[in-house]
Amino acid sequence: MVLSQDFGIDLGTSNTVVYAKGKGIIIREPSVVAMDVRENPSKVVAVGAEAKTMIGRTPGSITAQKPLKNGVIADYEMTADMLREFIKKAQGKSLFNRARVMLSIPSGVTEVERRAVHDAARNAGARYVSLIEVPMAAAIGAGLPVGEPVGSMIADLGAGTSEVAVVSLGDIVASNSVRVGGDDLDEAIIAYVRRKHNLLIGSRTAEDIKIKIGSAYPYDGEAAINIKGRNLVDGLPKNVEITSAEVREAISDSVNQIADMICETLEKTPPELASDILDKGITLSGGGALLRGFDKLLSHITKMPVKVCENPLDCVVLGTGRCLEKNVLGL
Ligand SMILES: Nc1ncnc2c1ncn2[C@@H]1O[C@H](COP(=O)(O)OP(=O)(O)OP(=O)(O)O)[C@@H](O)[C@H]1O
Ligand SMILES: [Mg+2]
Repeated sequence: MVLSQDFGIDLGTSNTVVYAKGKGIIIREPSVVAMDVRENPSKVVAVGAEAKTMIGRTPGSITAQKPLKNGVIADYEMTADMLREFIKKAQGKSLFNRARVMLSIPSGVTEVERRAVHDAARNAGARYVSLIEVPMAAAIGAGLPVGEPVGSMIADLGAGTSEVAVVSLGDIVASNSVRVGGDDLDEAIIAYVRRKHNLLIGSRTAEDIKIKIGSAYPYDGEAAINIKGRNLVDGLPKNVEITSAEVREAISDSVNQIADMICETLEKTPPELASDILDKGITLSGGGALLRGFDKLLSHITKMPVKVCENPLDCVVLGTGRCLEKNVLGL
């Protein structure tokens, strides 16, 4: 008898989340692979959280990298290696030996990029692979009435890509995406600190600043924090204070690109569905939705209610999970 286990996987630029049918979320790890390049072919040393701690700290023989960029595969072999490790971990020691996998992919990708994800999962040992577009998975995960003749708008704001879609009667009616996400906000903070304070900081410090005091809209209790980096003038370590208003200024271009994407999609939405959205509002998912005041900014610009879904970081994988539990999409 062939035993099989079904998994839903949100293969993100920053995080990979795995849902096992009948169990729920079993893996939440950074999308990072560490390889020993002395071996030929290179050997995987670590994946996920363990590999992430190695970024920027590896000896010459080991590299720790993110195999995805802007939501799509940048390094095919590494992505397949990472998926293989996650699927192995998800299967554990169970008797299940035939993993069937539902993977989420960004909606704006090319056929070649789609195929790459499909093949990487097959290469990683999955016996059957189905793909679902991120905004559809996010809408299902957020509990929106996707199957009804009602327009629902969902925007998934990830690390490498942001996507928005209007869903009605089980299909995407209008959609849009930009290859701008949380990683770009971090880059913008690095560039700002370098320009304004002559200070060099790494991407982990930039992300830290964003999460601690970053915002898209002014908020109560605006703050300032001390950051450490390397002085670009004399090369020595230096401390600088940065305020939440400065961070808002630093990330405003990227934030506005995401807001423009949503506005353009609203303009393309058929009027009946637009009026549904006006009633029910826009739902945000993805880690970017956690940026302070993003909902307020979008509500201010669109004049519509905007709410963040319950588990922004898990919303997409929970959507694949719901499909698996209901045996939807032929798995
Ligand atoms: N509290 C927070 N405030 C602002 N940004 C946050 C917060 N928490 C997480 N993020 C950002 O969210 C992003 C990760 O979100 P998510 O896991 O949804 O992305 P992903 O699915 O890996 O990427 P993508 O969907 O683009 O492939 C990172 O850029 C992270 O810095
Ligand atoms: Mg994502």
